[in-house]
Amino acid sequence: MIRRLTTLVLALSAVAACWSPDGVPSHSAGPSARAVNVADAEDVSAAAGGMAAHAPAPWPDNVPRVDTLSDTPHGAQIRRGHAILTATKDSLPQYVGNDLRCTSCHLDDGRRANALPWVGLMARFPQYRTRNAKINTIEDRVNDCLERSLVGRALPNDDPAMRAIVSYFAFLSNDVPVGHRVQGQGAPPVRLETANRARGDSVYATTCARCHGAAGEGTPLAPPVWGERAYSLGAGMGRVRTMAAFVAANMPYDNPGMDPQDAMDVAAYVNSQPRPTFARAALDWPFGGAPADVPYATVGRTPVPWE
Ligand code: HEC
Ligand code: HEC
Repeated sequence: MIRRLTTLVLALSAVAACWSPDGVPSHSAGPSARAVNVADAEDVSAAAGGMAAHAPAPWPDNVPRVDTLSDTPHGAQIRRGHAILTATKDSLPQYVGNDLRCTSCHLDDGRRANALPWVGLMARFPQYRTRNAKINTIEDRVNDCLERSLVGRALPNDDPAMRAIVSYFAFLSNDVPVGHRVQGQGAPPVRLETANRARGDSVYATTCARCHGAAGEGTPLAPPVWGERAYSLGAGMGRVRTMAAFVAANMPYDNPGMDPQDAMDVAAYVNSQPRPTFARAALDWPFGGAPADVPYATVGRTPVPWE
């Protein structure tokens, strides 16, 4: 299995040297470290559906804003999607189970590079994902974050709220060729092997607690990062590498940009704290091969705690 995945990584890196774990452009030399190889294989295969042969499209010069929309029914539909994504709980109280909104993580209304942007999103769906080993539609992906990151319930595909959300995503995808990634997609990966929770505890106290609260509970300045109102164990943010990449590029919010090791350490600390469970977690990666930072047991793999 490992040999097969490694071969896949090498084969794909020949055609697309810039592909990397969460589908983000890599800023480092390529697959060298053991853990990175496994993670790369997961996401390279996830994204390989017709896209690997293309170079990423440039980040658009002018990412569209809802305040430029005209007063048409279509404009109103896009504005409604934007409102749901930025005020998710007020818009969909029966579908959200914690204190986050979609744009708690997809910053600036999903318009900011390296902050998990939705720019060009429709150009990369439908998409095969190894996490559930099937082709995922954009609606599947919305419901993944709704259920895992917002501890909520899945919206039916034909619900007007779902149609509005997808309209906003299409609005952010104009001018991006289908089948292409976009520069600035995801967050630049942090390619480090180790994370130290005790060091992370002190990084959290000095750098994060003033906004996210001493016990991760959130404050009027920022949402919770652990506890019963935070993202679940099954959320993408619950993976140490994914969180480290997001945090290194985007936190602290008022002065972003962190030392990558500090970001790894604080991610390991935050993700070792209690949070909501995710009932279907054990069904993820049904054919095995979960990346090394997935914090729950999956087929053929038991997670190893960080230092
Ligand atoms: C706690 C943080 C968090 C919140 C809140 C969140 N997401 Fe996400 N989202 C992520 C992460 C991390 C990824 C990508 C990595 C992964 O899934 O492992 C992602 C990926 C996505 C993607 C795929 C992006 C791509 O480039 O392919 C979509 C679409 C998406 N989220 C929509 C939503 C919607 C809609 C909501 C609200 C219902 C939401 N997200 C809330 C963290 C979050
Ligand atoms: C100046 C205040 C501030 C500081 C300091 C700060 N953050 Fe944030 N953080 C925010 C805000 C604001 C958001 C959400 C943005 C939004 O809702 O538009 C956020 C979002 C997040 C999220 C995604 C949403 C969630 O709550 O799960 C994570 C994870 C996160 N921050 C981690 C950190 C970490 C780790 C640190 C310390 C290294 C840190 N932040 C420092 C303000 C801050």
